[in-house]
Amino acid sequence: MKALLLSFGFGLVAVLQAQEFPDTEEIQDVTGTWYIKATASDKEIPENLRIVSVTPMTITALEGGNLQVNFTALIKGHCRKMSFVLEKTNKPDKYTADWGTHVLYIMPSIVKDHYVFYWESKKRAFRFREAKLLGRDPDINQEALEDFRNAARVAGLNAEKIFIPKQSETCSLGSN
Ligand SMILES: *[C@@H]1O[C@H](CO)[C@@H](O)[C@H](O)[C@H]1NC(C)=O
Repeated sequence: MKALLLSFGFGLVAVLQAQEFPDTEEIQDVTGTWYIKATASDKEIPENLRIVSVTPMTITALEGGNLQVNFTALIKGHCRKMSFVLEKTNKPDKYTADWGTHVLYIMPSIVKDHYVFYWESKKRAFRFREAKLLGRDPDINQEALEDFRNAARVAGLNAEKIFIPKQSETCSLGSN
C-alpha cells in the first residue's frame, strides 16, 4: 500500500513540477454518479465560492470525448446549479474547462471506486488549486481519506484543513 501511495504522490508532484501527468495505460470510465466526499485547497476559499453541502455529481459523456458535469451545491445560503463541460485534451487524464482557465487531472485513489479530481484555476480573479475526493458511495472511507490527505500534502494543498461537505439528495436550504 505504501508503494502505491508513493507512486500516487509522485504523480501529483509530476503534475506540479512538470505540468504534465504521466501516461496511463487505459482511459478510465468516470461517467455516472459520484459523491464529493472531501475537498482540500491551497488557500482559503472565499465565502461566495465555498460549498457547504452537495448533491451527488453526475458525469455524462458527450460526443467527442468531452464530459458534462452536473451537481447542485449550497453556497452562502443559495442552491447553485453547477454545470460545466470538461474538454478533453490529448492526455487521457487531463481535461480543461472554461476555455482553458481551469485544468483538471483525474487520478485514481488507492481505494477502489474512488478518484481524486485535481483542479487548477488560472482565472485572474481568483487563482487557486483544489482537490476533490470522489467516491461511488456516500460513505466516508478512512483509507481513501488518508490517501487523499497524503496526496493533498504532496501537492502543497492544505492537508490540515480538509473539508467534508454534507451529502444531500436535493439541495435544501434548511429553515428557508
Ligand atoms: C446538465 O446540465 C445541463 C445544463 O443545465 C443540462 O442541459 C443537462 O441535461 C444536464 N445533464 C444531466 C445528466 O443532468
